[in-house]
Amino acid sequence: MNQHLTPPPVPFIDVVSQRERLGKSIDDAVSRVLSHCQFINGPEVTRLEADLAAFCGARHVVSCASGTDALLMVLMAKGVGPGDAVLCPSFTFCATGEVVALLGATPVFVDVDEATFNMDVESLKRGIATARRLGLKPVAVIAVDLFGQSADHDAIGTLAEAEGLFVLDDAAQSFGASYKGRRLGAFGLATATSFFPAKPLGCFGDGGAIFTDDATFAETLRSVRVHGQGSDKYDNIRIGLTARLDTMQAAILIEKLKIFEDEIAARNKVADHYARGLRDVVAVPQVVAGCTSVWAQYTIRLPKGVNRDGFAAALRTRGVPTAVYYPKSMHQQTAYRDFPVADGGLPVCERLSADVISLPMHAYLDEPTQARVIEAVRSAL
Ligand SMILES: Cc1ncc(COP(=O)(O)O)c(C=O)c1O
Repeated sequence: MNQHLTPPPVPFIDVVSQRERLGKSIDDAVSRVLSHCQFINGPEVTRLEADLAAFCGARHVVSCASGTDALLMVLMAKGVGPGDAVLCPSFTFCATGEVVALLGATPVFVDVDEATFNMDVESLKRGIATARRLGLKPVAVIAVDLFGQSADHDAIGTLAEAEGLFVLDDAAQSFGASYKGRRLGAFGLATATSFFPAKPLGCFGDGGAIFTDDATFAETLRSVRVHGQGSDKYDNIRIGLTARLDTMQAAILIEKLKIFEDEIAARNKVADHYARGLRDVVAVPQVVAGCTSVWAQYTIRLPKGVNRDGFAAALRTRGVPTAVYYPKSMHQQTAYRDFPVADGGLPVCERLSADVISLPMHAYLDEPTQARVIEAVRSAL
């Protein structure tokens, strides 16, 4: 027998174990859709929207085809366009700023906080002034809740209100997390989330949702979702999209939502275990008092002088995958380089892009496997 067999690679995100756990409940849910054949706007879509509303406490939920569509629909429903500035953190996934540029408006990038990776409110203040100095009209802030943890919604909301801006919360990575006792979905004019399979609550394809407490705004979003239709289906009253969530994905999400609380608890256990095993050798992520995280990513910062590529390669040889979110902040990427940044620059975004690296994180990471990851990190350093 071979005594030197290496253990199988650790999954970075384990959708297979979750699929096995859900087993027949998903098969049955999909079969029901295959029986009733209402593939668009089937009963599962309405039921999911109600379940999501109950889960996070938002009054209205408008499901849609992706997290990107969720962001875009909110900006479209508000009529954001050329001449408008939308303030976004630069250390985020590109969809946050992309939707602004798609509408001909200008994303103005702001810096983030070194400890939480989320929007720095002082830089946001400077970004609003920068936008005005450039002759743009600041109309909105997209507050991103990065890697599973909420942004500072009180501070962002207070500043936005004083400046006459609306807040769109990009909770694509953080649905299920809370800020001062309230689940995300309850902050700003609207919250957008993604059900991409790798997200804490993911479906088996693309999907997304928008949360709002404003009934009139929810109606506008429903119109935008289907070509801008009005009460007469063939009298379109605004420009819209085809951005519905498939019934099949809704049926799958209904089942996954039932185990989501349990999975969030498991993710938090994994995060605690990582923190205990790694805090003396790397900068581990911090959860702000009064907030909870759903740990979309477990992102550490490497000490100065450690080569990130070499570190990743050392882990790979031990079967431990890593990922870098994000090696370039948005303002450093080719398509976004010419958009403005807040006065004072974005030094924290640039530092983070240079030294962060994410470790395997999911609800099914057992302790022996996690011990392998911790050991691999420690020995690579
Ligand atoms: C912060 C953020 N915003 C928006 C999105 C877009 O979501 P989707 O991929 O469902 O369009 C993502 C997805 O990765 C994201 O991480």
